[in-house]
Amino acid sequence: MAKILLLYASVDGQTLKICNRLRDQLQQQNTVNLIAIDDFDGDTVPYDKIIIGASIRYGVHNKKIIDFINTKKEQLDALKTAFFSVNLVARKPEKNTADTNPYVIKFFKTINWRPTLTEVFAGKLDYKKYPFFDRIMIQFIMWMTKGPTNPHTEIEYTDWEKVREFGERLNTF
Ligand SMILES: Cc1cc2nc3c(=O)[nH]c(=O)nc-3n(C[C@H](O)[C@H](O)[C@H](O)COP(=O)(O)O)c2cc1C
Repeated sequence: MAKILLLYASVDGQTLKICNRLRDQLQQQNTVNLIAIDDFDGDTVPYDKIIIGASIRYGVHNKKIIDFINTKKEQLDALKTAFFSVNLVARKPEKNTADTNPYVIKFFKTINWRPTLTEVFAGKLDYKKYPFFDRIMIQFIMWMTKGPTNPHTEIEYTDWEKVREFGERLNTF
């Protein structure tokens, strides 16, 4: 039975929702601690595996997640680790793998760390949740990428079967 840390950064809750699914799946065979980066004390010692999930906002992952990886690189390199990104560009089939998603590609160009496993999931679009400025910006991004711009749109693009398959890999890696 492995001790797993599921560490996440989520603004509107989609990355957390994915983490909850993974926790439900993993805790049948492991001890799982699900912790938001804002609440994490930074102690990696108790864990055998660390899984990090973060969403994209305006092209970047959460800064605290990046700082955590940079400061704990040595400890992370000694463990089994996984990283997943959640973003809306990943709704496009040609941009939904670690090798094809632009944010994941850029992320690994700017960070000196390679997790054991990397994955990317499409997130959720929910205009009614966004403050005015954010809504306008997301509508613009959606327009640019030929996505829905209607302000009433609420679509969960997350492929839950893909999440389940990732959970299976996390169980055995
Ligand atoms: C303010 C804001 C900025 C965003 N910027 C991007 C972006 O640059 N690229 C992208 O693909 N998705 C972007 N998204 C979409 C989020 O990544 C997506 O909604 C995801 O599900 C959010 O996950 P979270 O709820 O865990 O934070 C943005 C969403 C918001 C609200």
